Amino acid sequence: MEFMDAVRARRSIRRFAPKPVPEDALADILEAGRLAPSSGGVNSGYFGVIRDESTKRALTALAGDQEWIATAPVIIALCSRLSPDAATRAPDDQFTAINTARFGAELLTYLNAYPHRTAMRVYADNAFPLLPGEHLALAAASHGLSSCWIGHLDTRRASELLGLPEDVVCLYLLPIGYADETPADRRLRPIDECVFHDRWPPDTTLDGARGPRA
Ligand SMILES: Cc1cc2nc3c(=O)[nH]c(=O)nc-3n(C[C@H](O)[C@H](O)[C@H](O)COP(=O)(O)O)c2cc1C
Repeated sequence: MEFMDAVRARRSIRRFAPKPVPEDALADILEAGRLAPSSGGVNSGYFGVIRDESTKRALTALAGDQEWIATAPVIIALCSRLSPDAATRAPDDQFTAINTARFGAELLTYLNAYPHRTAMRVYADNAFPLLPGEHLALAAASHGLSSCWIGHLDTRRASELLGLPEDVVCLYLLPIGYADETPADRRLRPIDECVFHDRWPPDTTLDGARGPRA
């Protein structure tokens, strides 16, 4: 399948047919995750392939009882090795410089004083699985398979359930299988409300249109 066809085909599916995911497709999907970019090349992702029915049901319970998740033949647990605690980094550390530019020194000082350091590290690394996970979702779509991101998750208990080592946390789930539903049409903004060229066009507001119009 062409890349843009897979991008267009990918939709969140919340009901799956009782049909297994072919092993060669699954291998491709996982390889797509491995190839994803990562900040500073840290490459900290782990992909748990969950097929065991009782584990799937237990994960479902930890995902706010979204029971349909367990209809997927495979659930990928998107896990990440936590980065070193930002509070222990030297002031001239590259990541400190980057985060200072992105968020400002005042916020970093505040966050570094937050007492629950593990929770802080999980929060700081929350976005790490997003790129590998979307690679997985698009690779699944390219094989005619469907998925759905699951961010509503008790990450601490999910990590315990999966027996993850300390410093590895399960941050998202991605159930994968063949769709057994047709999703409703999405309300997407037209492209000229999403794009601006060089500089935000003067004399435009966000009222009415939700972004700049050319
Ligand atoms: C980071 C992230 C977390 C999400 N978490 C959930 C979730 O817990 N449960 C759910 O049903 N959908 C979840 N979704 C799916 C979104 O609701 C869905 O992507 C959005 O409505 C757009 O629909 P589409 O994926 O079909 O384009 C999540 C999506 C993302 C990107």
